[in-house]
Amino acid sequence: MYGKIDRRNKLNDLTGKEWLKLTKSFWLSEKCVDDKDAFKHPAPFLIKDIMKLIGLFTKKGMVVLDPFCGSGTTLIAANNLQRVGIGVDLNQKYKQLAKSRLRKKHFIENKDYYYKIGDANDVLETLEKVDYIVTSPPYHNILKNKGGGLRTANSKGFRTGSRIGIEYYSDNSNDLGNKKSYSEFLSSFQEIMSKCFSVLNQGKYASIIISDFTVSKEEICVQKDIVDCMLKCGFDFVGTTVLLQDNKPLYPFGYPYAYKINHMHQNIINFMKPKKSKI
Ligand SMILES: C[S@@+](CC[C@H](N)C(=O)[O-])C[C@H]1O[C@@H](n2cnc3c(N)ncnc32)[C@H](O)[C@@H]1O
Repeated sequence: MYGKIDRRNKLNDLTGKEWLKLTKSFWLSEKCVDDKDAFKHPAPFLIKDIMKLIGLFTKKGMVVLDPFCGSGTTLIAANNLQRVGIGVDLNQKYKQLAKSRLRKKHFIENKDYYYKIGDANDVLETLEKVDYIVTSPPYHNILKNKGGGLRTANSKGFRTGSRIGIEYYSDNSNDLGNKKSYSEFLSSFQEIMSKCFSVLNQGKYASIIISDFTVSKEEICVQKDIVDCMLKCGFDFVGTTVLLQDNKPLYPFGYPYAYKINHMHQNIINFMKPKKSKI
């Protein structure tokens, strides 16, 4: 630790220098050895990226919620920093994966973390207040696209390329990855986020991690749509951190006819629940 923690700091346990570093508008995504245990999930976070966010937006002992928790990365990151994690996911098999990851780190279910199975839309109604939300929803139906990317593990167990495009989360109709149209996906996302708004303490933060993607081969500014949904729920937009993933393979999607972007970053879109409600 460099420097000292300002006694007026009610947000986190960081010194001024540590805090300032995390206000940069881009971060380099960082791997660690425990990430490889999430390989069976199609789209896990990296633990260190989420630890940075939780370290920035909470103090020790606070409660962190991930309503689309998948392989439990948020719970591991929260427990590593002595926060309590609450995860929700539709899919029982991801809970089993998360439990085995958390067990390996000696974290205890229903003490250090809670993992609830069900539609976030229902489960969120049963929760007490939380201090921070960090999550990444399914990217509409892109896992069902017939992409041709690599998806093998290298000798260290890390992915070496993008998905093959045959593995998706579930066949459950409430799964946001199964919504027929992009606008249906957005309205289901917004419904869940308005429940997130209700469970978040006032003056606290929520981070949505997502990249832009294509729908029917058309590039969509997903960030704009996510911000619109969150504003409608009552959140304030407080800034986007670009999470650089400079190790992905490049695909010649449009070459040599047209410009088509290669997405090499995620947007960490940050929001705050205002101290006084506007809606
Ligand atoms: C992008 S993944 C999240 C991965 C997670 N961040 C991790 O580190 O493993 C999205 C997750 O949302 C879950 N999901 C989709 N619709 C849901 C819903 N309505 N309620 C709860 N979970 C849902 C999927 O099962 C999937 O695991």
